[in-house]
Amino acid sequence: MLKYVDRRKTDSSKWDGLKAVFGSEELLPLWVADMDFRVCDCVLKKLDEYLKLGVLGYYIEPKEYKESFIKWEQTYHNYRVHEDWIRYSPGVVPAINWLIQILTEKNDAVIVLTPVYYPFLDAIKNNKRKLIESDLINSSGKYTIDFSDFENKIAKNNVKLFLLCSPHNPVGRVWKKDELKKLMDICEKYKVRVISDEIHQDIIIGQNPHISTASIGDYDSMLVTLTAATKTFNLASCKNSFVVIPDFDIRKNFDNFVKCIRIPGGNAFGYIAVQSAYEGGRPWLEEVLQQIRENYLYVKETLEKELPLVEISPLEGTYLVWINLGNYIKGKDMEGFIKERCKLAFDFGEWFGGERFNNYIRMNIATSKENITKALERIVGEINEII
Ligand SMILES: Cc1ncc(COP(=O)(O)O)c(C=O)c1O
Repeated sequence: MLKYVDRRKTDSSKWDGLKAVFGSEELLPLWVADMDFRVCDCVLKKLDEYLKLGVLGYYIEPKEYKESFIKWEQTYHNYRVHEDWIRYSPGVVPAINWLIQILTEKNDAVIVLTPVYYPFLDAIKNNKRKLIESDLINSSGKYTIDFSDFENKIAKNNVKLFLLCSPHNPVGRVWKKDELKKLMDICEKYKVRVISDEIHQDIIIGQNPHISTASIGDYDSMLVTLTAATKTFNLASCKNSFVVIPDFDIRKNFDNFVKCIRIPGGNAFGYIAVQSAYEGGRPWLEEVLQQIRENYLYVKETLEKELPLVEISPLEGTYLVWINLGNYIKGKDMEGFIKERCKLAFDFGEWFGGERFNNYIRMNIATSKENITKALERIVGEINEII
């Protein structure tokens, strides 16, 4: 059975890192994207066996490590990954930063679909590339892609790279095949390379199945897929993710880059945790998905009943719910309202692309029903006080 763990005073970013990000330790945290659930037993057992050895010396990648990933992709995502395409990175976000440096030059334009996971924006700006934002179209909380805006901005700005988030954080969309195909065909037409961040590929809540971008056509020469077991199995601290590069030249450039920064592989804990999760963790994942679906329905039904003017984006994928409170709280007052009145910590909409998203909060629901209940009660109670 899925077990909730009290992570306070364990150096957890989500719980013990509150003060640094939100200025107070007193908040109930439903922000950064990890889960408050105990990791599956098959992972803990393997890590325990390794620790019992009592030696933490240099470690090589286990023989069956890549095999476990290849099988997972084939079984659940219909993506046939060749072993020699796979590279290591200590996280998807580091890989995005590396690939921006590998695939583009300073001042090159890089496009994203906003609102989007804010490390995408930071990666573009910090690497001195030009950020091009194509806003998703929001129809009462349902988000779609503005293909003509996307294409026009690519053409006008001579865009070189597209950072795709699939499933999309924060709006919770699981892109359909025809949407992905249109995006990829536009990119192909303008010779734009694509990094497809599929770290949320296994957290599918609604009816749309996750479609791996690489599986929808022959885009091998222009596409790099990033994914990991870390979001799926709550292993973020293990710092272990996959970079899948089908193109020989991009692979060569990636390998040369990695030679210069000397990060050729990961640590023992990451390899062991990821491999054992892929090999034995599916039943645990099914329980997690069930819990997230229940939590989502609970959030949606409660807010729709208590605060009918709240807009909740349908959660097709991820465990992050995108909520518009703008009909009750002015965007510029959102942070103060959430932190000071509700004593809660969420990712604020503004982080995902600027002021125009400040009516929104992103709520992490991979936690106990008790925590969600407390958060909802505070939001509903405080809004009722002021309206
Ligand atoms: C879309 C997306 N990419 C990447 C990450 C983080 O990846 P990593 O911890 O492997 O750097 C997250 C975490 O929330 C995410 O939502």
